[in-house]
Amino acid sequence: MNIQIANIIENRSVSDQYFELVFDYSNFDSEPQPGMFFTVKIDGAFGPVLRRPFAFSGWNPKQGTASALIEKRGNGTHWLAGLASGDTLDILGPLGKAFSFPQRGVRPLLVAGGIGLGPMLFFANVLLARSNQGLCEAPLLIAGFRTQSLIPKLDFPAGTLFCTDDGSTGFKGTVLDCILSLSDALPKVIYACGPSPMLAALARYASSLALPYEASVEQWMACGIGACMGCAVPMTDGTYQRACADGPVFNGLTVDWEKLV
Ligand SMILES: Cc1cc2nc3c(=O)[nH]c(=O)nc-3n(C[C@H](O)[C@H](O)[C@H](O)COP(=O)(O)OP(=O)(O)OC[C@H]3O[C@@H](n4cnc5c(N)ncnc54)[C@H](O)[C@@H]3O)c2cc1C
Ligand code: FES
Repeated sequence: MNIQIANIIENRSVSDQYFELVFDYSNFDSEPQPGMFFTVKIDGAFGPVLRRPFAFSGWNPKQGTASALIEKRGNGTHWLAGLASGDTLDILGPLGKAFSFPQRGVRPLLVAGGIGLGPMLFFANVLLARSNQGLCEAPLLIAGFRTQSLIPKLDFPAGTLFCTDDGSTGFKGTVLDCILSLSDALPKVIYACGPSPMLAALARYASSLALPYEASVEQWMACGIGACMGCAVPMTDGTYQRACADGPVFNGLTVDWEKLV
């Protein structure tokens, strides 16, 4: 992990509320893995404020770039959306724990909800590359959105299943409804990132079938480096873990979702 002033290579709108930020990663000291995140200092007219965390949505070692898929939410993300190629960002990363790789012979099911797509797309592309080398099965990605206009104009792995709450495209219903409708073999391992209610529903499903399940939680963060307990995630054994340092990827069967949701 290190801190760099990185050049923005590209910053473009990819859907109604999402944009893709691509920045120079050539000077960072370690590789980002799917599930890891970085924090960025927000400047502009907002005074001294907390750094904002974002998951990596890709890494291109040949071009020396990394990317994130970002939703315009408040001041910080609107400020980021207004930046352009050639502007610089103060970035700290890579941070946190990554998803683990599935065993050989087990087809991984990757589930994304809304802006949780970024890390899942990164993971899907890494797993596809590994499957081309015979190291694992090709993943199935299921991506859910409220409506069609939010689906980013990006390259998705062949066979990606889209769901929308309003039925404007793809499967009408939640990602869990979509999983339950699959006529093929049931998933053997699940990885997910998205809103907590979605992660909680997947935890109940995975638990009922005793499936391994890893979930990346999007918890409020202050320091982002494990020093303040500002990002505490309740666990089923009554303890708390830090989303920034012990996560953000957790064994989803050990998170106390009722307390987190
Ligand atoms: C590990 C991690 C990875 C993340 N990855 C991504 C990502 O890849 N893409 C992305 O767009 N966002 C991601 N986020 C969330 C992102 O950090 C927040 O959206 C961002 O900090 C909001 O900053 P802001 O100044 O625009 O909003 P603020 O002005 O701080 O808040 C605006 C609104 O956004 C909501 N909000 C802000 N932060 C969070 C949060 N952490 N969880 C839930 N709601 C929040 C609040 O309800 C508030 O109403 C991630 C968060 C974490 C912890
Ligand atoms: S945000 Fe400070 S410990 Fe996680």
